[in-house]
Amino acid sequence: MTSSAPHPLPDFSHRRECNSIDLGDDQKEVLVCGWVFRYRDQGGVLFIDLRDRSGVVQVVFDMALDAELLKKADVLRGEDVVAIQGVVRKRAPQAVNPKLATGAIEIVARSLTLLNKAKPSPIPLDEHEGTASEELRLEYRYLDLRRKEMQEALRVRHEFIRSVRNFLDGEGFWEIETPILNKSTPEGARDFLVPSRLNVGEFYALPQSPQIFKQLLMVAGTEKYYQIARCFRDEDLRRDRQPEFTQIDLEMSFVDKEIVMRLTERMIQRAAKTAFGIQIDDRPERITYRDAMELYGNDKPDTRFAMQLIELGAWAQTTEFQVFRKAAETGRLKALSVPGGASLSRKDIDDLTEWVKQDFKAKGLAWVKVTENGLESLITKFLPEAAQKELVRLANAKPGDIIFFAGDRADVVFATLSALRLRLGEKMGLIPDTYKALWVVDFPLFDWDYDSASVVSVHHPFTAPVPEDQHIVLDAQKSESLSEETQKALLGVRSNAYDFVLNGVEIGGGSIRIHDAAMQQAIFRLLKISDEEAQSRFGFLLKGLEFGAPPHGGLAFGVDRVLMLGLKRASIRDVMAFPKTQKGTCLLSGAPSQVDEKQLRELSLKSTARPK
Ligand code: AMO
Ligand code: AMP
Repeated sequence: MTSSAPHPLPDFSHRRECNSIDLGDDQKEVLVCGWVFRYRDQGGVLFIDLRDRSGVVQVVFDMALDAELLKKADVLRGEDVVAIQGVVRKRAPQAVNPKLATGAIEIVARSLTLLNKAKPSPIPLDEHEGTASEELRLEYRYLDLRRKEMQEALRVRHEFIRSVRNFLDGEGFWEIETPILNKSTPEGARDFLVPSRLNVGEFYALPQSPQIFKQLLMVAGTEKYYQIARCFRDEDLRRDRQPEFTQIDLEMSFVDKEIVMRLTERMIQRAAKTAFGIQIDDRPERITYRDAMELYGNDKPDTRFAMQLIELGAWAQTTEFQVFRKAAETGRLKALSVPGGASLSRKDIDDLTEWVKQDFKAKGLAWVKVTENGLESLITKFLPEAAQKELVRLANAKPGDIIFFAGDRADVVFATLSALRLRLGEKMGLIPDTYKALWVVDFPLFDWDYDSASVVSVHHPFTAPVPEDQHIVLDAQKSESLSEETQKALLGVRSNAYDFVLNGVEIGGGSIRIHDAAMQQAIFRLLKISDEEAQSRFGFLLKGLEFGAPPHGGLAFGVDRVLMLGLKRASIRDVMAFPKTQKGTCLLSGAPSQVDEKQLRELSLKSTARPK
């Protein structure tokens, strides 16, 4: 294509969006601009589907009407950028395209301006032509984002966030920005560090969340804060995890758990309805952490289907199977009854067994099939008649079902059976295509870390214990070393925290915070964060708490995760404009990349890594 002399540009102020043109415009002259989407040359008549952000409209170039213009249009190819002036015409009945919003009309071209010629797109943009590999899509993201599916994701994301903003504005929240160049915050992941040139040898950390700043904003008397906040966490990536992601982050003063949870429910219910047109229960069920673990093996259960875990600790002792008896004595024995699962083949079962051994460190996966003639399994010989009957009763099993057993340390049993539940629920078609929201509450405040032989925070260290359990914390921190009894009591302390779960994905979480410095210091001490370390890492928060911090609490929602679920996309990469790969790279820009020696020198840095 030779570049022609510059055309005078059309008067863009008259431009109409492709999708806005309809029968009401019949015989009117219009200007449309956009990209050549599809073209069909029918010898003497050329049809072009012109696409802009709003949609597609058909344009006709007809030799019989203007041979010169047809010749000019003949060179157009996919993704060329054009402006077309033409007259709207009602299509003949047989030419109406009911699949297209503008399918009742077409535009007969009067003039054409080629605004920019495009190279052929390396990826198909028409949904009928399939999709390219994700690598190629990410490399040419600006083209990929032109696809209908991605345009929809961007639009719905905008609508979701707008709805949240409108809602919070109506509730009296202020949107306040917090720093990106930060001191390290403790959300439990690794920090991304940024070296400081002006303070050689020192580093900023990118925020894992605005946690400490939003608490300080409460000390500052702002009362209701929110932010559509970028967060950065250097962790292993998965389909629902990105190194940088977006939170709806909020915090309120003079509130209790109920107030925060009710506000959140209304916010999410409204935004999901506006953006996705889906109805989420405005009073989601609540489940305690303990029940979630016992019934589903998981602190973010997918409760769209039942299939709950069965407790077999006591039953184990009525069998003669040493594996079960020992597991129940030293750990746990639980089971899962799968409706219709007796149809699984030996090979299916062997594959599942290999999988739980590999991925969850299970020692095995015993099973029994329930048939009209009783139980069928390699282990029935260890199960006396009465135990068999009792098993069927406990599992509420029917002929055609299969029961899987896991006997092990509690964490192995939970991990194994919760993963098995989801995998088989899916395989057997037991998970309905709906949305089910759930609050998980009463998390333990502490977990036990075997490596450091100390307690660690389950949420973050600013989470308050529930009022009834506060004395346990205050008493425990007084003693130098934790007695076994104190340790046990500490692990039983419940936190004033709550997680919002949608279809088995944790999409939000928060808590009522500690608002007095003494309790905060006690928690740090128990976490084995020394006074010096607490001062150097969080001194600015501790100091703030001493200057009249109001009781406060809040929560953060993962925007990307909500979008992934609401739009039914397989990965959060599909709802972000410019995501990173699983290895944290940006295929579009090439980040991360090496930098100049000079840049490093200015920062007094030297890399010891060899270039790839
Ligand atoms: P939390 O760490 O639970 O809490 O994060 C809140 C929500 O953010 C989302 N999320 C992520 N989304 C995508 N990629 C990631 N790597 C990622 N990590 C977290 C999840 C999660 O539920 N400051 C506290 C909130 C508070 O206490 O107010 C916090 O950040 O959907
Ligand atoms: P074994 O006695 O090792 O031949 O195992 C008999 C059956 O019990 C096999 O199906 C094993 O997969 C299963 N099994 C072994 N250990 C466990 C365990 N800890 N939990 C559940 N099943 C087990």
